Amino acid sequence: MAALYDQVNGWGPDYEYWLQVAGTMSALDVADLGCGTGQLTVLFARAGHRVVGIDPDPGMLQVARARKGQKLVTWVQGYAADLATASADLVTMTGHVSQVFLTDTEWAKALGELRRALRPGGRVAFDMRNPHARGWEAWNPTDSRRSVGTDSGVAEIWHEVTAVKDQLVTFETTTRYTDSGRAEVATDVLRFRDEPTLRTSLISAGFAVDQVHGDWDGTPATKLSRELIITATRTVRGPQDQAGPAVEGRRNVAKAAAATRGRETSR
Ligand SMILES: C[S@@+](CC[C@H](N)C(=O)[O-])C[C@H]1O[C@@H](n2cnc3c(N)ncnc32)[C@H](O)[C@@H]1O
Repeated sequence: MAALYDQVNGWGPDYEYWLQVAGTMSALDVADLGCGTGQLTVLFARAGHRVVGIDPDPGMLQVARARKGQKLVTWVQGYAADLATASADLVTMTGHVSQVFLTDTEWAKALGELRRALRPGGRVAFDMRNPHARGWEAWNPTDSRRSVGTDSGVAEIWHEVTAVKDQLVTFETTTRYTDSGRAEVATDVLRFRDEPTLRTSLISAGFAVDQVHGDWDGTPATKLSRELIITATRTVRGPQDQAGPAVEGRRNVAKAAAATRGRETSR
């Protein structure tokens, strides 16, 4: 799968969008969680950001580490919990990485780790396929079938949904090599969350939602948008902070740190 990922998921308008998000906020440090084969991760680095690409899949990272420009990125095999504390101005989860967190507990835990990894004022940015658009209905052998060239000749790839339950979509991806007839089948499960659910989870994790776009051209999301493209800012106070004078103290420290960082990062 890792070997064919770039052929199936090439450059798209989402890359322009994410590069603009990072550029507009002048993010010094970007952590790309679920960086996969690192196509976009290297582009972040080429655009002048200091970048950590992190992914749990060694196969994906192997492709990333063979990529031109890979030396510009620090690659880490791991999860959100492996990100260093207060190390990033922006954490991205592109290519619908947010959908791999199947349970509410997993999602809340991941957001908590991202908040910890972000500096005060830092942002998380990610995309989610909107469940109301029911995009999985096109994941069938007819609509999803395409051919790609591989080292082992031409391969046909298609998807087939096998279950839809409780916002969880289970589907198979078949890769069949035309010459040999050999076929590989992989099963995946993705969680679809709608906009209100995402907003609530972000607020609970200590983020303020900045914007929700429904398309890569920056159109605001509607109930039926295919995509929910979200940017949210880490709030000064999070769920783990307690009210009282100690919090006020921390808030002032955070304000001072943010002001200092603002000077450091202006270009
Ligand atoms: C669809 S790919 C997206 C890759 C890349 N971000 C892009 O835009 O093309 C999803 C990636 O999420 C990674 N992943 C799976 N579970 C994860 C987890 N719990 N935390 C972070 N990444 C995860 C996978 O290994 C895979 O590389």
